[in-house]
Amino acid sequence: MSIYIDSANIEEIKQALDLGWISGITTNPLLLAKEGTEVSALLKDLGHLTSGSVFYQLISETFKEMIEEADRALDILEDKLVVKLPPTDLGFKVCSQLSTRVSCCPTAIYSPAQALVASEAGAQFIAVYVNRATRLMVDGIQLLVDIADVLTNSPTDILAASIKSPDEAFQSIRAGAKHLTLPFDTLTQMSDHPLSQEAVDQFKRDGAGLEK
Ligand code: E4P
Repeated sequence: MSIYIDSANIEEIKQALDLGWISGITTNPLLLAKEGTEVSALLKDLGHLTSGSVFYQLISETFKEMIEEADRALDILEDKLVVKLPPTDLGFKVCSQLSTRVSCCPTAIYSPAQALVASEAGAQFIAVYVNRATRLMVDGIQLLVDIADVLTNSPTDILAASIKSPDEAFQSIRAGAKHLTLPFDTLTQMSDHPLSQEAVDQFKRDGAGLEK
């Protein structure tokens, strides 16, 4: 399992990576736009921050331009790049072409049928939008169960995305997701529990350890 930070904000990403258990960075066009800076420079910075993967989503709208855009991202991020693609006929066609030489992740997946197509197109990951599915459609966790079921013998991994709480994060893994991408605030809540803090306080107050 890998846990990624879903952000394009350098400060958030630095703090997240400093935790020591984050495997890389996922971005999307909205997250990149929010930073209001040149995307190529930002991607370069993200690549320098992590030794893990950086997910970048193509925004071009023709086959040729998408391949060219992926190649530009590859020049910047080299083997850290995972190409995110829209789950459209064009996106899956580009995925089929690119997946022989770069990791691909069709994103905004909302159905087991899309997951099957992604798998056939050679995707290494699919990003399933869990919380958005719950809000807009059906139970996002049940969607993961269904997708995990149809991908049983597939090498395509489920990356649970659009996660809004630690509870949703663990339920996603229990439902069959292999990886998580979490926004900064959810990520920082993952290790917290009030009872753990109480125990830590008591150890500090009443306990003993090795002398310095
Ligand atoms: C995943 O890679 C997406 O960036 C993200 O999780 C989108 O979901 P949200 O906009 O509901 O947070």
